[in-house]
Amino acid sequence: MKLFIDSANLDHIKEMNDLGILSGVTTNPTLMAKEGKDVNQTLIQIAEMVDGPISGEVISVDAKGMIEEGKKIAKLHPNMIVKIPMTEAGMQATKALTELGIKTNVTLIFSLPQALLACTAGATFISPFVGRLDDIGTDGIELIESIRDMIDVYGFDSEIISASIRHNEHIKASINAGAHIATVPYEVLKKAFKHPLTDTGLENFLKDYQKVYG
Ligand code: E4P
Repeated sequence: MKLFIDSANLDHIKEMNDLGILSGVTTNPTLMAKEGKDVNQTLIQIAEMVDGPISGEVISVDAKGMIEEGKKIAKLHPNMIVKIPMTEAGMQATKALTELGIKTNVTLIFSLPQALLACTAGATFISPFVGRLDDIGTDGIELIESIRDMIDVYGFDSEIISASIRHNEHIKASINAGAHIATVPYEVLKKAFKHPLTDTGLENFLKDYQKVYG
């Protein structure tokens, strides 16, 4: 499974990218607003920093607007992916952009029928929101499993980006469920490196070594 970072914060993205663990980046309007910087400039800086798919989300809600925005986003950098909401207009835009050779990431997916529609429309990536489903007492990981089965059985080309990741367990469960990618917030990525036995194990290695070799 590949790891993307779910962020528009350039410092956080650089820190994680310098560790060699990132294969891409996802942003959304909320993450962009959190930074409050120029959206296009931020996307270009991210794409120049991380060598992989970079998702920039449209804010239009009509198909025509999404298509026009999508063409502009695609022109920002060769690695740009146009992020489109799972709506009827979004499917029309996904089909049109795909026919133009522009890669898409259909987001805000919460059900298997939505995933089927997005795959059928030609989405390059589809983003089921695990955390938000868990928030309402629905099993988000079960959806990832079902979507992966659907893709494998029917031979769709779309890749699953397990999104709305809240903690380490979501990363682990996304792996086991067959997600192609997990897009993980900075704070969750930082915690993924840590385990108490690693800390005590390293401490004891160094103590034992120092006793003999000084
Ligand atoms: C992915 O790109 C999504 O926009 C993101 O993971 C949503 O996460 P949230 O549910 O924490 O807002």
